Amino acid sequence: MTTTRISPARLHKTINELSKIGQQSNGGITRLTFSKADIEAREYVANLIRDARMSVSTDKFGNIVGRSLDVAKGTPTIACGSHIDTVPDGGVLDGAYGVLGAIEAIRTIHENHRPTKALEIIVFAEEEGVRFGAFVGSRGFTGLLKPSAVYAMRDREQVTFQDAMHQANFSNLESSRQPSNIRAYVELHIEQGPILEHERKSIGIVESIVGLGDLEIEIEGKNGHAGTTPMRLRRDALVGAAKIILGVNRIALKTGMPAVATVGSVAAFPGAPNVIPGRAVINVDYRHTTLPKMKLLETKIASFSKQVGNDSNLKIRVRRKSLTRPAKMSASVTRLIEASSRELKLSFKYMQSGAGHDCQNMAHITKTGMIFVPSHEGVSHASTEYTKPKQLEDGANVLLETLLKLAN
Ligand code: GLV
Ligand code: MN
Ligand code: MN
Repeated sequence: MTTTRISPARLHKTINELSKIGQQSNGGITRLTFSKADIEAREYVANLIRDARMSVSTDKFGNIVGRSLDVAKGTPTIACGSHIDTVPDGGVLDGAYGVLGAIEAIRTIHENHRPTKALEIIVFAEEEGVRFGAFVGSRGFTGLLKPSAVYAMRDREQVTFQDAMHQANFSNLESSRQPSNIRAYVELHIEQGPILEHERKSIGIVESIVGLGDLEIEIEGKNGHAGTTPMRLRRDALVGAAKIILGVNRIALKTGMPAVATVGSVAAFPGAPNVIPGRAVINVDYRHTTLPKMKLLETKIASFSKQVGNDSNLKIRVRRKSLTRPAKMSASVTRLIEASSRELKLSFKYMQSGAGHDCQNMAHITKTGMIFVPSHEGVSHASTEYTKPKQLEDGANVLLETLLKLAN
C-alpha cells in the first residue's frame, strides 16, 4: 500500500462545479448527449483531464479519451472512466462521480508516482441512452457496434447520431482509439441501490452486471374526433399502449426476481385532448442476469404486444433499440479491489449490479472491475441522489490504490 491519497477538497470542488452544468430549477441535472449542457460539461472535464497531466482527444463515437503524457503509443495501459450524460432531472453523482473520482485518482498518481503502465480515462458518450440508445459510446469503443450503426441511430426527432455530433461541432474526429493495449479497466460508481447503506459497508465489489434491453413499441391505430367517433368504432393507439404497459408489468412479475421490466416513456400522437391518438410509442427497459432469460422476456413482451394488436385492430411494430449482455467482472481485478479496501481499512461486500454500466461493454475487450460506494436510501436517477463526502473519498482512494497495483 502507498500513503498517497486523493485530495478531498479537489474532489468535492469538481463534483460541485460539474453539478452546476445542466442544473434545472427543481435541482435535477439534465445533460443529454450533445446538448448545450453536455458540450459545456465536456469542456469542463477536458480541462480537468489536462490539469491531471493527460492528453485529451475525442474519438469518432464522441468518447473523450485522456491519457498520461509522455508515454509511447503502444505502452500497456490501465483505463478507468464512466459517463457525464444524465437522465432527465438526474442526480449529481451517477456517472459524474466515476469520471471525477478517476481524474482525481490519476492526478494524484501523476503528482506522486511514475507507474510503468500508462493511465487512461475514458468519458463514454451516451451511457444513459436517453437520446439514442444505451451505451452507444462504450459499445462503439469496444467494437460491439459498427461506426455505421452508431451514426445511423436516431433520436425522437429523427436526428441521427452523426448529425447531432456535427451540430455539436464534433467533426473530423480521430479514428477510434485502438483499445488492444488496454490491460484492465476499472469503473468507480455509486451503488444506486440500498444494500451497502443497509449493511453498513463502505465499498461494494461488483462481481457481475445485469443485461438490459430497450424495446421501442409503436402502436398504430387511427386518428379521430373525440366527440363524434363512437367508442366501438375507435382504433385508439394509446389504449393499446396502456394494455401493453400492464402486460409488461405482469410478465416481469410472473417471471420473478431478478427479472424487471419498465415502461418509462410514452408518447401519443398527435397529442391533443380532443383527438383520438392514432399513434403511440412506448419504450420497454427489461433486465435479467442471464442472456437466455433476457431473450425469453423479450419474446414474451413482443408476442403479448402482437396479441393486443390482433385483439384491438392495431398495427404493432416492435423494434429492439439495444441489447447489452450481462457481464462478469474479472476475478483478478476484483481481488485487487478487495486488497485495496483491506489496506485502507474499509469494510466491503461482493455484490451484483442491477444498473447497467459502460464497464460491462469493456468486459468484452479487457479485464474489468467495478467499485461501488453507498447511495443514501438507494436513490438514483433522481435529484435526491446522495452519498456522504467521506464515502466518496473512500471510493476514490480505493480506485487510486487499485490503479497503482494494476499499473506497476
Ligand atoms: C444505467 O443508468 C441504467 O439504466 O442502468
Ligand atoms: Mn451511471
Ligand atoms: Mn444512470
